[in-house]
Amino acid sequence: MKKVKFGVIGAGGIAYRKTIPGMLEAENIELEAVMDVENIDAIANDFGVNKAYSTAADLLADDAIEAVYIASPVELHLEQILAAAKAGKHVLCEKPLTLTLPEAEQAVKACADNGVFLQEGYMMKFHGAHTTIRQLIADGALGKIVYVRAQLSCWYPPIEGAWRQDPAKGGGGSLIDMATHLYDLVEYLVAPIERIVALTGNLVQDYKSEDAATTLLELKGGCHATIDTFFCVPDESSRTRLEIYGANGSIFTEGTIGQSIGGAAEGIFGLGAGGYDAAQDKDVERAFAPIDFPEVNPYTAECEYFADCILKGTPPTVNDGGNALHIMNVTELAYASAKEGTVKTL
Ligand SMILES: NC(=O)c1ccc[n+]([C@@H]2O[C@H](COP(=O)([O-])OP(=O)(O)OC[C@H]3O[C@@H](n4cnc5c(N)ncnc54)[C@H](O)[C@@H]3O)[C@@H](O)[C@H]2O)c1
Repeated sequence: MKKVKFGVIGAGGIAYRKTIPGMLEAENIELEAVMDVENIDAIANDFGVNKAYSTAADLLADDAIEAVYIASPVELHLEQILAAAKAGKHVLCEKPLTLTLPEAEQAVKACADNGVFLQEGYMMKFHGAHTTIRQLIADGALGKIVYVRAQLSCWYPPIEGAWRQDPAKGGGGSLIDMATHLYDLVEYLVAPIERIVALTGNLVQDYKSEDAATTLLELKGGCHATIDTFFCVPDESSRTRLEIYGANGSIFTEGTIGQSIGGAAEGIFGLGAGGYDAAQDKDVERAFAPIDFPEVNPYTAECEYFADCILKGTPPTVNDGGNALHIMNVTELAYASAKEGTVKTL
């Protein structure tokens, strides 16, 4: 099989922990080079990669490389996307695409102008539980969907120099870093976002970025959704729950949101046809049955999908530039809602 030769820009964080290991399992990718400003020889050695660069310019000057995966701090994304596009490399960039919507517009335009493909790293859509649940919903298993709750929280204490803790470097805190994944996921599972109300705050951690963000959404067709994302909830006490309620049943997952391959899902279907029970007897013990789903490494799947688009010469339609601009717009509206105390409409 023909393989796309990839270079990684910013290989030491999520790239090292998840995406490079995932990429190495992709059948249609060859990891040609890695780049980071720190420890690059050790990183290259750990993954058996021959080429280790310490500047993005050097990696982009390498003619063998056809595509780059950018996983650097967010403040660097725009300049690195622009340089990659100019060098004729296809771009898979981590979320958020850039710090702001105008920057994202620049990035999308540069890729289009230079004829390179662009995809953003909202990999949770490739998780086996989420693709399975999406199909169940599309098949009508839950009836009309009325409410979704999606949660992603962690404990993130103050760390000297951490880019996520300064909005100038990361674009914000738990909202742009984590809620954006879930805006994207609820749209994928249910329907596009139409109205937004958000609360943000610094409830525990002492840094400039928000450590708390709760977003209330209205989706097309009327479904309500809440997205709760906190940097001040201990890892052990957050089960990263996804709850989807319809008029005929519901689906709950634990551990499918986040960086995992696995997790668990359960559901109950085919309800809603009975009469009104004034006693409200809720047999919650008996009701739910496990939902099987294929084990898919979402990082492998997102990389494989992008490489497949490159090999076929057809631009990605999942996590493409249009989706990136849309989610960035939702993000900016959520921040504006939180600041002004207003409801925002798309
Ligand atoms: N999809 C996911 O599951 C997921 C998870 C975590 C982070 N992310 C995203 O990935 C990106 C990186 O986040 P992270 O948590 O890995 O951050 P990080 O700070 O842990 O790692 C960033 C890496 O970039 C390197 N770097 C710094 N300056 C650089 C430069 N000039 N050029 C190239 N590399 C440079 C750093 O040395 C470090 O190795 C962000 O956009 C973040 O939102 C995505």
